[in-house]
Amino acid sequence: MKLSPAKSIRGSVAVPGDKSISHRSVMLGSIARGTTEIHGFLEGADCLSTISCFRHMGVDIENKNDVVTVHGKGLHGLSAPSVPLDCGNSGTTTRLISGILAAQGFSAVLTGDASIQKRPMGRIITPLSMMGADIKSIHGNDCAPLQITGKPLSGICYDSPVASAQVKSAILLAGLYAEGETRVTEPQISRNHTELMLKFFGADIRTEGSSAMVRQTPELYGNQITVPGDISSAVYFAAAGMILPNSEVLIKNVGINPTRAGLLTVCKAMGADLTPINEDHSGSEPTADLLVRSSSLHGTVIQGSVIPAMIDELPTVALMACFAQGRTIIKDAAELKVKESNRIALVAENLRAMGADVTETDDGMIIDGGRPLHGASISAHKDHRLAMTFAIAALAAEGTTELQDADCVSISYPNFYTDLKRLVRS
Ligand code: S3P
Repeated sequence: MKLSPAKSIRGSVAVPGDKSISHRSVMLGSIARGTTEIHGFLEGADCLSTISCFRHMGVDIENKNDVVTVHGKGLHGLSAPSVPLDCGNSGTTTRLISGILAAQGFSAVLTGDASIQKRPMGRIITPLSMMGADIKSIHGNDCAPLQITGKPLSGICYDSPVASAQVKSAILLAGLYAEGETRVTEPQISRNHTELMLKFFGADIRTEGSSAMVRQTPELYGNQITVPGDISSAVYFAAAGMILPNSEVLIKNVGINPTRAGLLTVCKAMGADLTPINEDHSGSEPTADLLVRSSSLHGTVIQGSVIPAMIDELPTVALMACFAQGRTIIKDAAELKVKESNRIALVAENLRAMGADVTETDDGMIIDGGRPLHGASISAHKDHRLAMTFAIAALAAEGTTELQDADCVSISYPNFYTDLKRLVRS
């Protein structure tokens, strides 16, 4: 795809539903008793992989007129799939379903695309095995494909070495089936959508600081879910609004759960003109509209507990830092190396190709802002978040940018380029 510079970005946009919450609503709906109606479900390829996996386990899931209806089978009602379950590009699908499969009365194989088959699964194999699960990496490399045979499980107390909602959620989902109590403690709190939704579906779950505890649960009950807009999709328009001149963009109905909204803290620290308005705290997942205007950004240090609360936004924040005065340091973010791609190496390499002053470190990046960006030939390496970040970079660069693998935005935001085109003034 060829992308040209833009003069400004103006108007309003409603970003698609939150990816993490969409996955969880189908998963919990499938193992709940009764019907779950999901409004605002994200129709991205990742979440469609989750639907497909549960359909292969006998769950009737309708997807029409903008509503996904899941006819739940109850905690013990899934059936053995006759084919390997294809998780596509989705780490959330692979890791969370592993927790559920660990306790079923059958055996199944989980697999996915080339990226999924390189991502670390030892982080779920270890705790699930401690609970009694029979889970193996088929090629013995701690990656998918995974062979999982359901077993009776027992609760554990697990100190997770990483702040990862996927790890925490896999353990909590297995914990629904495990004898006694299952406790997961993280080094920092990661997104808590699983905890909130499990509670909403009737599970016996509580939290204490960075620990979550669930007890064996006799039944979950289907419910109505309205998925808020995804802050991880909002970040692209927010960044464009800040770094392009004469810009003003209103991003509507964005989820601002504090365990996800580290972006808002960091934008403030960078001096961004970003105001949350129309905040709604009536549901379990708070939302707001984000009003963003052209900003005079300055560098900051991004580290510690804010990192898990904005992990997927860091590539875009690195781009913002190129337009900030002074130095931005991102640290404690080694997890970026094991996402859909190595996001430290590829963000640094691509930003440098566009003329930015970026140094990659073991756990982040150092960015000295203020150098103008120029168009370049950029590959997203099939990573949706890189494609969208560099589409925005192209708007703020001089000259034309050629973006390879641009179509991988379908993983989380199929209409991204249409929405962007509508807002861009060239
Ligand atoms: C997710 C958790 C995060 C995030 C991913 C979605 C989730 O991954 O990067 O895009 O839905 O639980 P980790 O759990 O690996 O940090």
